[in-house]
Amino acid sequence: MKTIDDLQVSGRRVFVRADLNVPLDGATITDDGRIRAAVPTITKLTEAGARVIVASHLGRPKGAPDPAFTLAPVAARLGELLGRGVAFATDTVGDSARAFADALDDGDVVLLENLRFNPGETSKDDAERGAFADQLAALADAYVGDGFGAVHRKHASVYDLPARLPHAAGGLIATEVGVLKRLTEEPDRPYAVVLGGAKVSDKLGVIGHLLERADRILIGGGMAYTFLKAQGHEVGDSLLQADQVPAVQEYLRRAAERGVEFVLPVDVVAAKDFPDLKTKAPAETETVAADAIPAGLQGLDIGPATQELYAAKLADAATVFWNGPMGVFEHPDFADGTRALARALADSSAFTVVGGGDSAAAVRILGFDESTFGHISTGGGASLEYLEGKTLPGLEALED
Ligand code: 3PG
Repeated sequence: MKTIDDLQVSGRRVFVRADLNVPLDGATITDDGRIRAAVPTITKLTEAGARVIVASHLGRPKGAPDPAFTLAPVAARLGELLGRGVAFATDTVGDSARAFADALDDGDVVLLENLRFNPGETSKDDAERGAFADQLAALADAYVGDGFGAVHRKHASVYDLPARLPHAAGGLIATEVGVLKRLTEEPDRPYAVVLGGAKVSDKLGVIGHLLERADRILIGGGMAYTFLKAQGHEVGDSLLQADQVPAVQEYLRRAAERGVEFVLPVDVVAAKDFPDLKTKAPAETETVAADAIPAGLQGLDIGPATQELYAAKLADAATVFWNGPMGVFEHPDFADGTRALARALADSSAFTVVGGGDSAAAVRILGFDESTFGHISTGGGASLEYLEGKTLPGLEALED
């Protein structure tokens, strides 16, 4: 893979595909981690005299402009972080984008509007994606792929565009891939993996792969209830993917066969109803044993005994990978499990990796010092697919 140092960038228009898909509450950015992670590559390019065209998706609009998903607030934040004005094009390949791209001076930066406002970006049809990539290519002289969080998407700006321009990987992609290589090739042992989040179906692929590599797998979040059910326990009204129970049972069997330790919650913080994340109104909670959650209650976080157990299971680890919150951390009554897990990682002397998405946002929203973690990835789905051993289109496209 080429790096920026291999590209001619001075005085040239360089298209940077970043992942600026940040969580928003209205027009307020609730976690700017991905924007901060994009800054070093953009700065390196501006300092080298490039004319930088930054592009990203935000959310999942349906291929047409939708004000709820505009990147305008991101342009403002990016400008603050870069310490220079960032122009904002109100379209992706239309009059606004073309005018800004043509008017750039050396060292200038423009951010295009949300790439997913154009149906060609995410199209399954190669020709439609290719046509959009042609229009994007006309804006620039070179391409830098740095949107690690989106490299698992076969999208026009990620996959088709690099084939049309001299291209290189940005520093963020290089760092992320280096960390994931370390996890897949020769992890220091014991290697512990903590998986949380809502859906077990999203994680089955990676669990299958990790069974071959990890020494210990700790499960939390909504997906834990499908594991508890697979062990024959009652889960009350907790989130359950009943159709996944047989697959989970098979994984538990394989883990036992291979000597991989699976650790499940022993207690959970439960409530009658899912909490209101808007008002954050206090919930009536009850801590119950994980192997007998009463009907009418749903587990929404790991309980205190589980928090202690998981901290103990991580204490002697040399490598830890964590993806997915332990509970509904967006509500203060169900944030303790995720906070305790983050604390266990922060206190650990292991090489700790927080795998993107919600867990990365949780670490920052809960106020942890990012430097106490070995690496906080910007890619949730992307890092999981990498660990699963899949070919990632956005990395494939950057190969020489
Ligand atoms: C993410 O948030 O994981 C990336 O930005 C990719 O977004 P997507 O899942 O909507 O493609």
